[in-house]
Amino acid sequence: MIPLNSNNLLRSSKSDNSLSNVLSQFNKLVIKKIDEDILDERILVGVLNKTIPGEQWFRRPENWYSITAYTNPYKTPYSELKILFEHSKELVPLINKTLKIFYGVGIADSETLIISWDLGKTKYSEVCAIDVANDFLTGFIQSLRNLVLEYPSSKIMFKGYNNIFEEIKKEDLNFYNSRYTKSTYVCFGNTIGNYFNQKEIFDILTRSMKRGDFLLIGFQLCRNPKKILTQYSKNLHFEKFILDSLKFVEKNKKLKWKFNQAENRVEAWFGDILAFQSKKYDLKEFLKFTKKLNLTPIKVFEDNEFAVVLLRKENQ
Ligand SMILES: C[S@@+](CC[C@H](N)C(=O)[O-])C[C@H]1O[C@@H](n2cnc3c(N)ncnc32)[C@H](O)[C@@H]1O
Repeated sequence: MIPLNSNNLLRSSKSDNSLSNVLSQFNKLVIKKIDEDILDERILVGVLNKTIPGEQWFRRPENWYSITAYTNPYKTPYSELKILFEHSKELVPLINKTLKIFYGVGIADSETLIISWDLGKTKYSEVCAIDVANDFLTGFIQSLRNLVLEYPSSKIMFKGYNNIFEEIKKEDLNFYNSRYTKSTYVCFGNTIGNYFNQKEIFDILTRSMKRGDFLLIGFQLCRNPKKILTQYSKNLHFEKFILDSLKFVEKNKKLKWKFNQAENRVEAWFGDILAFQSKKYDLKEFLKFTKKLNLTPIKVFEDNEFAVVLLRKENQ
C-alpha cells in the first residue's frame, strides 16, 4: 500500500516544497488559505447585503453530518450516488485518466466513488479538493486512504485547498507533476443551487477549464415544489444548520420558509435577510443555460428527484 503522503502531493508550483517546513502530514496535503476572520467578514457583508453566502452554513460540519446522517427528509446525496452507481459503465471510460477537481467534498460519498473508479481501472488517481471546512477535507483524505487499502499497489496524488471556491485561481489547479492533460471538474450534492447568482457559480466552475475538460454536476430537480418545501421547512436539523450560521444578528426571530416560484428556489428568511437558499432545476432549462457557456452535454442521467450531468467544455 502506498499511503497518501508528501510524495503523493500534486504540486502547483516549486514553492510548494516549502510546505515540508510544516510539521503535520495533513498540512502538507492541504493548503490553508482562508481563516475565520475572513469568513466572519463575509458574513458581515452578507448581513448588510441581506443575503447570507452559502459557505457560511458549512462552517460547523457537525450540523451537515446531522442533516445527512438522519436522511429523511434530506436524501438527495443518496439519489445522486445511486445514479452514479447505475451509470458507472458509461461514465468511467470518459472521465478515467483525468485529474479530478472537487468543488466541495462534504460527506464525500459520491466523490469517493469517483476515485474508486480510477483505482479500479488504473490503480492511479489525481485528486484536488476544495472546501471551506477543514473537517470535510480531513474526512475525505481518510476515505481516500481507506480506498488505497482496498486497491493494493494503487496510488493517489492529492492536493487540498481549505478555501472558498471564489478564491481559487487558475494557477492553483495547474499541477506540473500531473500525468494528465485533461481535468474533470466535479460539483455534487446540489451545491450549485446554494448560489443566489447562478452565473457566479458557473463562472467559478468554468473559468479554469480548458477545451475538452469535463464538468460533472449533480443537482436536484424541481419535480414537486410543495413536497420539497416541506422537506426543508419541517426538518429541525435544517433550522439549526441555518440559524447557527447567523453570526452578528440577534436570534430573536424564527425562520420563514417559502418556495420562490419564479426562481424555483427554496428560501428561508430571517426577518429581511435571505438566510438560506437552494435552487432546484428544470433539466431543459439547465441544459439551455449551460449551452450558452459552451458546455456540451455528453451524458445526462436523472431519476425522479435528481440529475447527474457530464458536460464538456468546447472552447476557451
Ligand atoms: C452540499 S455539500 C455537497 C458535498 C457532498 N457531495 C455532500 O453531499 O456532502 C457542499 C460542500 O461544499 C462546501 N462549500 C459550499 N460552499 C462553498 C464555498 N463557497 N467555498 C468552499 N466550499 C464550499 C461545503 O463545505 C460542503 O462540503
